[in-house]
Amino acid sequence: MTRALLHPRIASDAVSAEAEARREFAADVARDLSLRPKRLQPKYLYDALGSQLFEAICELPWYRITRAERRLLTRYAAAMTEPLADLTTMIELGCGSGEKLALLAGGMRRRGRPLRVHLVDISPTALDLSARTLATLPQVSVVTHGASYDVGLRQAAASPLRHGATLALFLGSNIGNFHPTEADAFFRSVRRALRPGDGFLVGADLVKPEPVLLRAYDDPLGVTAAFDKNLLVRINRELGGTFDLADFTHEARWNATELRVEMHLVCRRAQQVAIPVAGLSVAFEAGETIWTESSYKYVPAGIGACGEAAGFDCHEQWIDRDAGFAVTLFRVR
Ligand code: AVI
Repeated sequence: MTRALLHPRIASDAVSAEAEARREFAADVARDLSLRPKRLQPKYLYDALGSQLFEAICELPWYRITRAERRLLTRYAAAMTEPLADLTTMIELGCGSGEKLALLAGGMRRRGRPLRVHLVDISPTALDLSARTLATLPQVSVVTHGASYDVGLRQAAASPLRHGATLALFLGSNIGNFHPTEADAFFRSVRRALRPGDGFLVGADLVKPEPVLLRAYDDPLGVTAAFDKNLLVRINRELGGTFDLADFTHEARWNATELRVEMHLVCRRAQQVAIPVAGLSVAFEAGETIWTESSYKYVPAGIGACGEAAGFDCHEQWIDRDAGFAVTLFRVR
């Protein structure tokens, strides 16, 4: 639908939301490129092209998270859902394509009752795709929340139709993109939204040998490099930036102390980059980097400890040893 066909009020709401999002992007870029080391927030990796590139990453032979998690959900869907007596509601935080939730819902044994699914994502495209995937399942009704995890979780938890047990899902090792203090706050906010008898299913990538990790985040096809550098393309397009892509190289680093893979964009030569919409002219030294993302890797007991610190019981853990990936089921005490 073109904007001209929209009701004028809806059209102007959409325009002001877009303008507000751009202002926030400009303010974040101005702040983060003034830090030492320079940074950019990983959430800005996911514009339309960035989301497509991430989908492509999930298909790469060197990035095994998606396939490992799919294997575990396919094999253990019944075991993952059965401990929750009278499971009537699922809340997926960061819904992607809806495929994983469909695997779980489809694999539930003896599901005679309707299942209400709440999808929480800031991306309207992801919500739309997921809702369409799930609409094909019998007895599943879908509610979408175009919101941050926090806000969407609160909305879903406050649903007047919520009875029986609820299972919240945070899959795809999205937990790895949180700093440990953010991960702790996140576990606590999920715990606050749930009630005794509810569950929380978390997928997390595990620590593995450095060369394997670096291949996953700096693949020989250059898809992850394109995903990372697209952030500069986005700044050029949306904020009038003058980044020359040929001057920046994608680099993945394993930080063995913090147990995280870091993505950096390394500037090859000293230069000045203008970003007019952010009111910024940034000086780069040769070799200086912009730190764009961290992917924390866990040991199985560490994931359990995160949940337990937030007041959950660690009920069971399923591990794909081949790829080094774990899905953990927590229950509310
Ligand atoms: C979305 N997230 C879990 C991915 C990860 O593995 O940290 C994002 C990603 N970054 C580079 N490759 C994939």
